Amino acid sequence: LIVARKSSPLVIGVGEDETFIASDATPIVGYTDQVIYLKDNEIGVIRRGEPVQVLSLFNNEPSTINIQKLKLSLAQLEKGGYDTFMLKEIFEQPSTLRDCLRGRIVDNCRRVTLSGVDLNQERFKSAERITLVACGTSWHAALIGKRLIQDFCKMPVEVEYASEFRYGNPVLNEKDIVISISQSGETADTLAAIELAKAKGAFVYGICNVVGASIPRTTDSGTYIHVGPEIGVASTKAFTGQVTVLTLLALSVGQLRGAIDDATLHEVLSALDKIPETIEEALKVDTEVKKLSRIFSYAHNFLYLGRGYNYPTALEGALKLKEISYIHAEGYPAAEMKHGPIALIDHDMPSVIIAPSDSLYDKIISNVQQVKSRGGAVVAIVSKGNKAMNDIADFCIEIPEVPECLTPLVASIPLQLLAYYIAVNKGKDVDQPRNLAKSVTVE
Ligand code: G6P
Repeated sequence: LIVARKSSPLVIGVGEDETFIASDATPIVGYTDQVIYLKDNEIGVIRRGEPVQVLSLFNNEPSTINIQKLKLSLAQLEKGGYDTFMLKEIFEQPSTLRDCLRGRIVDNCRRVTLSGVDLNQERFKSAERITLVACGTSWHAALIGKRLIQDFCKMPVEVEYASEFRYGNPVLNEKDIVISISQSGETADTLAAIELAKAKGAFVYGICNVVGASIPRTTDSGTYIHVGPEIGVASTKAFTGQVTVLTLLALSVGQLRGAIDDATLHEVLSALDKIPETIEEALKVDTEVKKLSRIFSYAHNFLYLGRGYNYPTALEGALKLKEISYIHAEGYPAAEMKHGPIALIDHDMPSVIIAPSDSLYDKIISNVQQVKSRGGAVVAIVSKGNKAMNDIADFCIEIPEVPECLTPLVASIPLQLLAYYIAVNKGKDVDQPRNLAKSVTVE
């Protein structure tokens, strides 16, 4: 048996009279603790009764074999050495997004290929409206999807909670496309919404993580986000995978309908292609956020504010915090704050304000000032190099600069970490928060 490694990981487990091959050590550790991690461009040659050979792909010369002893227990290994699945899943986002993007950005960042769209070009060309349906975190991804589709496809888009859609007498016909978004692919309300949309003649497209789940089996076509199993109940890597696929889909359909110019397409695709590295960079705020979390673990209420592309990011940040720390948190479009939530602001109510250097930056500065002038503490999420915010906000967390439409992907990283560390400080079970389920298969 001959194996070779290029980009994706490959591990050879060396047992007694047996050899194992896997993409990581997890499935091997139950059989042997001796492993060889192949490097890129190495070939492993496995022959019955002979020692494993490792060769260079370039010249077939033998490479030095470094057999390592696995120090982790099976339980730890499943968590990749992290304390919890959630932390592992937060930190694996550079690699899950790499998997999600693989093979989908082509022609030197000038074209997107998504088979679900490519095989249904006429449907997407003639569609008059797209409706996104989902629940929970997937619904937040849908809100970002709406903005992406409006910007790049210039067509009407609606977003509905699946549970509201199914009982809302939706008006649909054959010119409608309904896109359902679901990590598990089993959510009962989303499944029911799909059945209803199909019955009304709409073309139903699924964006799902779990391969072969009910939703991808029921929909007319779709795209997998390919981020691997998500174990933590609070969704992290599935959210960024969903937003990434929605970006690809909006660009792909925009391209098909001639609604996006080549320069914009190239600019966004070039930045999206680099998003795994950008997220790696964004994760470097880990220690800083951990420290910050100690200051805020006392709070009983939190406000999360954002505008434009980052209004849904604010909702998602607030949801993460309430799901795992049980602190009440509200996400709001920043400008709406003056119509109610501003009454809540005092010394005990911190606000997290997402303020990257985008087209709405000047507007959000005044929202930060409104909170500050009422005695509220502000944690601002700002673009790298923005030192001016230090004079206004109490704490600034910097994120790498990306095109405006990609800011939710990077801004959600510090929000995931903040929720995580606050919950850990409070001694909560972050992987299995009370009363919540990973897959909600009941109405
Ligand atoms: C549950 C999970 C959430 C998830 C929601 C929708 O509430 O706890 O994390 O966002 O269901 O799930 P889905 O699998 O359809 O994305």
